[in-house]
Amino acid sequence: MSQTYTKTAISLHWLIALNIAIVFSIGVYMHELPLSPHKLQIYSYHKWAGITVFLLVLFRLMWRYLHSPPPLPETMPIWEKEISEVVHYFLYFLMLAIPLSGWLMSSAAGFPVVLFGIIPLPDLISKDKELAGLFKQLHFFLNMSLFLLVFLHSVAALKHHFIAKDNVLIQMLPFLKREKTL
Ligand code: HEM
Repeated sequence: MSQTYTKTAISLHWLIALNIAIVFSIGVYMHELPLSPHKLQIYSYHKWAGITVFLLVLFRLMWRYLHSPPPLPETMPIWEKEISEVVHYFLYFLMLAIPLSGWLMSSAAGFPVVLFGIIPLPDLISKDKELAGLFKQLHFFLNMSLFLLVFLHSVAALKHHFIAKDNVLIQMLPFLKREKTL
């Protein structure tokens, strides 16, 4: 088992994190806007960036399958390792389920997704106003769950670095590497 993440795994982690922060912020901003061509344009940016997250996460999962991540520190109690594994599974689930629920919502509302304005994506379901409302609620609920889990994930990473003083965060942010003291 490798002792570090590959450069690709690190790049994918931060690229996806940045993309999610942008898509999430656009989502919060856009839904309050009054109907206008500007609002429709912002909705399209949100959908394109969201589908990009979906594709990047699929690639990341494939990469993870082919390159196992470094082991957690031996000093970590088993229960903490188990919680960390569950949180990671949920994060992957949400990173796929959120874009999918958005895509399902758009299809059900009768607004097909045209990726970057040039690649028409298939409708996942046919038009159904009631289902569109349900997927909208699901999209919101999944997003709030992601918000909570990302918060926990970040607190855990900071705890590793500043309290346990192990290498967990450094493996994802190699420039934090501590100087060796004599
Ligand atoms: C990682 C990907 C995504 C994230 C983090 C995300 C996040 C959000 C957030 C935070 C909102 C505001 C929720 C609310 O206040 O009700 C929102 C709304 C929305 N999202 Fe996404 N989204 C993602 C992907 C997508 C995708 C792929 C689509 C469609 C293809 C989509 C379609 C929509 C639509 C149509 C709304 C507006 C709902 C309304 O009318 O209020 N989202 N999204």
